[in-house]
Amino acid sequence: MAGKKTKLRKVVIIGTGFVGTSYAYALLNQGVVNELVLIDLDKEKAEGEARDLNHGMAFGNPMRIKAGDYEECHNADLVVITAGANQRPGETRLDLVSKNAKIFKGIINKVMDVDFQGIFLVATNPVDILTQLTREISGLPKERVIGSGTILDTARFRYLLGEHFEVDPRNVHAYIMGEHGDSELPVWSHVQIGGVPLSKYAGIQDVYQHDEMNAIFENVRDAAYHIIKRKGATYYGIGLGLVRLTRAILNNENAIVTVSAYLEGQYGLDDIYIGVPAILNENGVREIIELNLTDTEQEQLGNSAKVLKEMVDVGKK
Ligand code: 2OP
Repeated sequence: MAGKKTKLRKVVIIGTGFVGTSYAYALLNQGVVNELVLIDLDKEKAEGEARDLNHGMAFGNPMRIKAGDYEECHNADLVVITAGANQRPGETRLDLVSKNAKIFKGIINKVMDVDFQGIFLVATNPVDILTQLTREISGLPKERVIGSGTILDTARFRYLLGEHFEVDPRNVHAYIMGEHGDSELPVWSHVQIGGVPLSKYAGIQDVYQHDEMNAIFENVRDAAYHIIKRKGATYYGIGLGLVRLTRAILNNENAIVTVSAYLEGQYGLDDIYIGVPAILNENGVREIIELNLTDTEQEQLGNSAKVLKEMVDVGKK
C-alpha cells in the first residue's frame, strides 16, 4: 500500500546518568519521539537503562529505545548531551568547566565524524560555556546548537510565583535570563499574571525593595544548591525541561522558551551563548526575542555575560 512514510523522529542521548535517564523516562511518558538511542561511556549501563525503559513500553507511548554507538547520530534529528561531571555540594556550575570541556571535545568530534546533520541540545554544566564550545568544535550553524540555558530557572520562577499568588504556573509569564548559574537575573519588568503586569496585579512598585519577591528570586537562583545538599543531584526538573525543548523542535512549534542561544548584537552582546527568550522550531533557534529591559536588568545581563566570557577562555584551554 502506498502511504506517506512517517518522518523519523530520532533522538540520541549522550550520557545516561540521572539527567539523561530522567529525560528518557519523561520522553517515554510523553511520546514525543519514535526512536531513542542511549550512548554512554559505560555501555553496560546504557544497555541496562534501555532494557529497563523498554519494559515500561506497554504502559507508555510506542517508540524504539536502544543502547547504541556514535554512528547512530548520523540520521538523528536531535543529539542531547547530558554527559559529564556534575556539581558536588558547595561546587558552582562554573567549577566544572575544565573537567567537562575535555569530555566535550571527545564527544562532539565523534558525533561530527559520522556526518551529523541535526540539532545539538546541550544540558551539561556549565551549560552556556559548553554550548559555545559545542558550536565551535562542531562548526554547525549557530541556530542548530542550543543549550538548555535558563529553561529550568524560568520554570522554577513561574512555579514559585504561582505558589505565592495561588495561580497556575502556566498562567504566569516570567523569564530568568543570563547565565544558568549564580549571575542569572529575573526579568521583573516583564512578569505578568494572566496578562496583567506584576506591579498592577500585586500592587508592587519597586520590586527590588520587596522582600518576598527578592526571596522568590533567591530561591530560584539557589535552587540547585538546596536540592544538591538534600539529595545529591537535580534531574527530574531538567529532564522535563529537555522534553519541552524537544517538543518545540521536533513539532516545529515556534515556541518561545528561554534557552542558551548565540547572540550577535542582541541586548548589546556579541559572540556569546547566554540564556534569552527565543523562538524554537525544527530548524533550531529561529529568532531571539529582544525584550525592552530596564537599566538595572540590562546591567545585570551585561554582568552575567562578563562572567561567562571569562569562563569561555578557561574552557578553551
Ligand atoms: C540545576 O539547576 C544543577 O543545573 C542544575 O538543577
